[in-house]
Amino acid sequence: MTDSLTVRDNRTGQEYDVPITDGTIKAADLGKIKSGEDAPGLAVYDPGFVNTASCRSSVTYIDGDEGILEYRGYPIEQLAEKSNFLEVAYLLIHGSLPDKAQYDAWVHEITYHTFVHENVKTFMQGFRYDAHPMGMLMASVGALSTFYPDARNISDADNRHMQIVRMIAKMPTLGAWSFRHAQGKPYVYPDNDLGYTANFLSMLFKMSESKYDADERLVKALDVLFILHADHEQNASTNAVRSVGSTQVDPYSAVSAGVGALFGPLHGGANEAVLRMLRRIGSKENIPAFIEGVKNGNERLMGFGHRVYKNYDPRARIIKKAATDVFEVTGTNPLLDIALELEKIALEDEYFVKRKLYPNVDFYSGLIYEAFQFPPEMFTVLFAIGRTPGWLAQWLELTQDKEQKIARPKQIYTGDRGLTFTPASERWA
Ligand code: CMC
Repeated sequence: MTDSLTVRDNRTGQEYDVPITDGTIKAADLGKIKSGEDAPGLAVYDPGFVNTASCRSSVTYIDGDEGILEYRGYPIEQLAEKSNFLEVAYLLIHGSLPDKAQYDAWVHEITYHTFVHENVKTFMQGFRYDAHPMGMLMASVGALSTFYPDARNISDADNRHMQIVRMIAKMPTLGAWSFRHAQGKPYVYPDNDLGYTANFLSMLFKMSESKYDADERLVKALDVLFILHADHEQNASTNAVRSVGSTQVDPYSAVSAGVGALFGPLHGGANEAVLRMLRRIGSKENIPAFIEGVKNGNERLMGFGHRVYKNYDPRARIIKKAATDVFEVTGTNPLLDIALELEKIALEDEYFVKRKLYPNVDFYSGLIYEAFQFPPEMFTVLFAIGRTPGWLAQWLELTQDKEQKIARPKQIYTGDRGLTFTPASERWA
């Protein structure tokens, strides 16, 4: 058996052998197929990249049919149960687990870069009182590039490491401050005596007490949620980070593009949309009518379906369990009953079964976040903080991948050609 594809171009009768490597063919090889000497080469049309590999990556493995998710080869279930977010961040960035000295140095570095320049605070204070925290986060991460102009030197390994540490460390500070801004409360500075997630909760909720003491079970649950969101191979926001990063811009600019992509309701904004949907449904009796509306194409069942998972999203299963731990501390969320019933009905309904639509990570995460008293606008900010090590691991991989080029897709042009321009003064005369 030869690992190649024989293509016969019926326009010319010519045959081509296209090599197959890792189950893929190079799109550039198809470009050699032409209908005539000067004709354009054959291209693939793939809106939404549904069947196009854009890179080689050793960060995250997903088997959507089996519901498997692994970071650097480690199953998500084991990491969520036995690791912590900073260790997982180390794993994603460095490619292997840290020894004790490496771990301590990593935690120390991240902890001592949580503060931001005071001018960042002034910049954030300039936003309107009702600014969406994702807009604030996107702008302030991008603005960090002006505070660290050295970040443009992306060919230097130490320099890249510095920016990675800074970004993982400062995202919770920026995220918490965007939350405090919306609440009209003073920004809280990082407390370096606290762990990563406990410090984030302190910056969010501390008032006049000298030390914010979060319930350990809530700290653990939020840490698990960060782990679950830490990477997800070539999703829309990672693709945005890679695409912008491919121009060799600094990583703050690339990550702010990722934050923008994550903001959308079909991506990270879905958990916010789930909560609004559950609230709109209001009670279990209204579920059948809602499901009918979805089946008639009037709307989507938010938190269901995934481009890759055609089975239960493994993250949704872990989150469903974490929800129980959180509700033990905070009391149950009445919307949980509606969500459970909605899931039950949808999983038995032919429309969803046939299309392999299962709950995704966002179906239950919003309920947990609400139990923490986060307003829905904050949900995607939490996702962004968790996803930052993944974006950066992928960006780091991109910067060292010799096969990568500036991302620049082709198009199929459908517009007019060669029109003659008449100046406005003549057209409107
Ligand atoms: N509710 C109802 N129908 C759906 C849904 C849904 N949530 N998702 C997909 N479908 C239907 C869709 O209408 C289509 O049906 P048909 O074949 O009859 O036209 C079929 O299922 C295939 O859907 P698609 O839109 O072609 O699938 P996609 O891979 O382009 O979209 C998705 C994936 C996640 C954007 C989509 O499932 C969706 O919009 N889900 C709701 C939003 C959501 O929960 N997003 C969070 C994704 S997980 C977190 C993250 O990674 O950000």
